[in-house]
Amino acid sequence: SPSSHQMEGGVGLSRANCRAKGGSPGFKVAILGAAGGIGQPLAMLMKMNPLVSVLHLYDVANTPGVTADISHMDTGAVVRGFLGPQQLEDALTGMDLVIIPAGVPRKPGMTRDDLFNINAGIVRTLCEGIAKCCPKAIINIISNPVNSTVPIAAEVFKRAGSFDPRRLLGVTMLDIVRANTFVAEVLGLDPREVDVPVVGGHAGVTILPLLSQVKPSCSFTTEETEYLTSRIQNGGTEVVEAKAGTGSATLSMAYAAVKFADACLHGLRGDAGIVECAFVSSQVTELPFFASKVRLGRNGVEEIYPLGPLNEYERTGLEKAKKELATSIQKGVAFVKK
Ligand code: NAD
Ligand code: LMR
Repeated sequence: SPSSHQMEGGVGLSRANCRAKGGSPGFKVAILGAAGGIGQPLAMLMKMNPLVSVLHLYDVANTPGVTADISHMDTGAVVRGFLGPQQLEDALTGMDLVIIPAGVPRKPGMTRDDLFNINAGIVRTLCEGIAKCCPKAIINIISNPVNSTVPIAAEVFKRAGSFDPRRLLGVTMLDIVRANTFVAEVLGLDPREVDVPVVGGHAGVTILPLLSQVKPSCSFTTEETEYLTSRIQNGGTEVVEAKAGTGSATLSMAYAAVKFADACLHGLRGDAGIVECAFVSSQVTELPFFASKVRLGRNGVEEIYPLGPLNEYERTGLEKAKKELATSIQKGVAFVKK
């Protein structure tokens, strides 16, 4: 039962005790960093998701207000808030899916790797809690630099003896969302009709859109290919600069995070044919982690698809991506090992 400081959406009179305990069908989802720029709209959208029965909102600041606010929405999920490290374990216990957007965002002039020093420790601590309280949960890592924070999470789980590579996913969905949008714009199509695979990782040249595999099938001029690749790789920086020091993408990210979390929940439910790109433990290349299309199921990642045929431009991009990825992965592993 909730601890004394824990916030329960809907305190006071209730005849339906089972609902407050999460009795309605659906999945239990925790958001860590729920009061942040991504966390708040993400919490709102997850509260609207019919597959969610219980929604735990955890942050080190401001969770009471966000929880009170979100809990008034007349949707099915029961919302509970958790504030500070002493409530982390209660926030995590029993969760099926944990989404992590905790950590500092970029300011203009910074790379995602410049966030490593602060966010690496945050992700490590949160994953230690997961290993202890919900080692079977599916984990969606949003905190940057994703190319290093996913390897950090894996090392933490390995140390705890609970690493299941199928259950750890770095969220690269925003790259796909952007790629679909920008490609649709060039082709004059509705973005909902467009599917662009984006592989590699989630920073600069590691973001590798496979424009030769766009659906519906089409071809691009060299000029279009270079424009689209550069715009997709620099989409995050475009937002960081427009926000001029107040943060990075939050709204499009919350949208992308929910699109991805919803796919994970449909997989958990046993739906067939759920395929999305994600940064996962992988043997698609010689690197230990790589983003590519994966099939999601009851255990998380059930199948990882090969990259498929690449053209020369993409093969060159792949070599560049792998070089930077290797360094970022190694940096994450070394952080936990040291
Ligand atoms: P923000 O500063 O608005 O929010 C971060 C939240 O994390 C804050 O509420 C803060 O209190 C909380 N937090 C800090 N330390 C914590 C801890 N130890 N435990 C729990 N919560 C903690 O930042 P934001 O704009 O929401 O971005 C969050 C992260 O997501 C950043 O690292 C950013 O770079 C990353 N991001 C990733 C993607 C992606 O595509 N994967 C996209 C956008 C942003
Ligand atoms: C993004 O792609 O928008 C995020 O990774 C945030 C950032 O720093 O660009």
